[in-house]
Amino acid sequence: MSVVSDFLINRQSHVNLDEPAPSEAVIQRIYHMAMRAPDHAQLKPCRFLLVEGEDRERLGAVFRDATLRAKPDASDEQLERAARLPLRAPLLVVIVARVVTHPKVPEVEQLMSAGCSAFALILGLEAEGYGAVWRTGELCYDRDVMDALGLSTDERLVGFVYAGTPSETLKSKTITMPDIHSRVTYWPKV
Ligand SMILES: Cc1cc2nc3c(=O)[nH]c(=O)nc-3n(C[C@H](O)[C@H](O)[C@H](O)COP(=O)(O)O)c2cc1C
Repeated sequence: MSVVSDFLINRQSHVNLDEPAPSEAVIQRIYHMAMRAPDHAQLKPCRFLLVEGEDRERLGAVFRDATLRAKPDASDEQLERAARLPLRAPLLVVIVARVVTHPKVPEVEQLMSAGCSAFALILGLEAEGYGAVWRTGELCYDRDVMDALGLSTDERLVGFVYAGTPSETLKSKTITMPDIHSRVTYWPKV
């Protein structure tokens, strides 16, 4: 088995992330990996918005306000939790897809390409020795959050990739794999 195959089979998301955040040089490399996602008609739908340092607290305030608007009965604890969400990693990469009208490439294909970019970005981070996890949740689809992040109406928020240095080893995690025979079959010959 090649080193790359082994890496792909055994990769894992990391939810517990600390400083240091990926360096500028690593960000450059993972950007290039993310932009190599399959992309019908070379539309390059993705852009990446980085939120780091104290700006995460500003984003936390946006999350808090959006939660209060969506759920006016939210408790103080729920609001505080929303405000702390972006602090779970030193760097957030907001994956944004710009959707265009195209005669051959429907919106779903542009979003799938952006999803591939998100995964390529995560794999790139893991390959560079960092950890990452892709998160969405209600706030990902909240128009006020999108507006605060500067998304135009033709852009979609694909997800938040939380990135940093894994704070614990995941060696003990059991990777569950559905049985191959339930997922991989040959179309019966006629
Ligand atoms: C589109 C998308 C959205 C996700 N949103 C969340 C989320 O909001 N919260 C969460 O805990 N995991 C979320 N996940 C799952 C994690 O990214 C991750 O895949 C999961 O924790 C399994 O870990 P693994 O990648 O090591 O198998 C999401 C995954 C995808 C593809």
